Amino acid sequence: MTSIRSLTVSLGERSYPIHAGPGLLDRGDLVVPQLAGSRALIVTTETVSGLGYAHRLQNAIAGDAACDCLVLPDGEAHKTLATCMKVYDHLLQQRHDRHTTLIAVGGGVVGDMTGFVAATYQRGVRFIQAPTTLLAQVDSSVGGKTGVNHPLGKNMIGAFHQPALVLADTDTLQSLPQRELAAGLAEVIKYGLVRDRDFFRWLEHAMDALIRGDTAALINAILVSCRIKADVVAADETEQGVRAILNLGHTFGHAIEAESGYGNWLHGEAVGAGMVMAAWLSRALDWLAEDELSRIVALVRRAGLPTAPPPGMTPEQFLERMAVDKKARGGRIRLVLQQGIGAATVTADFPPRLLRQTLEHFTAHGARTD
Ligand SMILES: NC(=O)c1ccc[n+]([C@@H]2O[C@H](COP(=O)([O-])OP(=O)(O)OC[C@H]3O[C@@H](n4cnc5c(N)ncnc54)[C@H](O)[C@@H]3O)[C@@H](O)[C@H]2O)c1
Repeated sequence: MTSIRSLTVSLGERSYPIHAGPGLLDRGDLVVPQLAGSRALIVTTETVSGLGYAHRLQNAIAGDAACDCLVLPDGEAHKTLATCMKVYDHLLQQRHDRHTTLIAVGGGVVGDMTGFVAATYQRGVRFIQAPTTLLAQVDSSVGGKTGVNHPLGKNMIGAFHQPALVLADTDTLQSLPQRELAAGLAEVIKYGLVRDRDFFRWLEHAMDALIRGDTAALINAILVSCRIKADVVAADETEQGVRAILNLGHTFGHAIEAESGYGNWLHGEAVGAGMVMAAWLSRALDWLAEDELSRIVALVRRAGLPTAPPPGMTPEQFLERMAVDKKARGGRIRLVLQQGIGAATVTADFPPRLLRQTLEHFTAHGARTD
C-alpha cells in the first residue's frame, strides 16, 4: 500500500503541514485537530461536488464538528467578488463566527477564492486547503496567495493568507482530465528547472509514470514541488525578491494566454511553451548548454505540453503584453532565465536584440523549437 508523505512549511507561528497520498479525504483525524472550533464550512464546485469529494471530507469530520457545504459554479469566470459574496452570505446566514474554519475542496479557482474569503471574513478565519487538481496540489494551495479576478485583470484583488493545513489526496487525480494533469506537470517541471537539477533528472525517468497517474510517482512529484515552493516562499513570503523565480515561463506564457483568449490555452500549457522560450533565450546568452536546452524541450513535450506559441502570434504582440508584466520595471522587461538546469535568475540584463531574436524564432518558425 502506498503511504502518505508529509512536510512542514516553516513560517514561524504560521507554519503548517502538507500531506500527500491516497485516501486523505477520509482522514478526519488529520483535519479535526486543525479546526479553529466546532464549526466548519466546506466550499467546493459543481464538478468536484459531483465526484463526491466534498461529501467524503464532510463525513470524515461530521462526528467532531458541525460542517456545512456550499457548492459554487465552476470555472475561472466565476472567480469574482460576486461569487465571494455568496460565501459571505452563507457564513452570515448560518451564523458562522470568528472561530469557524473554511475548507476549500477543488482546484485553484475555488482554493484562491475560499482563501480570500477566509482572509477577510470577520478580519480573518482559519483556512484549510484540500486541492483536487495537480496544479492546486503543487502550486496554488501552497504559499498563501489568495484572491479573485477583476474585469480589468486576473488576480487583481487578493490577500496573503496562509492555510493551516494542505491535504493533497492523490486519488482525486484519477478523475482529472489528461489535459489538466499535463497543465499541472508544467509547474512541476518548473520547480526542477529553477531549483533542483536532481529533481529534473528524476522527472525525466518518471514522466511516463506520472502521465499514467502512478500514485507513488505523483506523491513524490507533489512533495518535492511543495518543498521547493515552500523553501522559496519561506525566504520571500510576499514576493519582494527571490519568489519571482517561480514565474519561470510565465511572462511569455501570460502573453500567449492573453493573445489566444483566456481559456483557450490552459495556464500550464502556456507556461510549458513559455519555459521553452525562456530556455531558448538562456541558450542564446550562453547561460544554458545545447544539450540542456534539448532536454528541456523533450521533457515539456513528453508531459503533453506545447513547446511553441500558437501559430500567428507576432513578436510585437509578445512585446506589448510582456511590457505590462508585473515584473517589468521602468518599462524594461524582466524575465526569469535559466543558468543551467536547476538554477534560475530574474533579470533585465540581456540584450533586447536577443529577446527579439527569440520571439522571431518562435513566431516565424511556428512550432520549431530546436
Ligand atoms: N494562489 C496561487 O499561488 C496560485 C498559483 C497558481 C495558480 N493559481 C490559480 O489557480 C487557478 C487554476 O487552478 P486549476 O488549474 O486547479 O483550475 P480549476 O480550479 O478551474 O480546475 C480545473 C478544472 O478541473 C475540475 N476539477 C477539479 N478537480 C477535479 C478532479 N479531481 N477531477 C476532475 N475534475 C476536476 C474543475 O472543476 C475545473 O473544471 C487559477 O485561477 C490561477 O490563478 C493560484
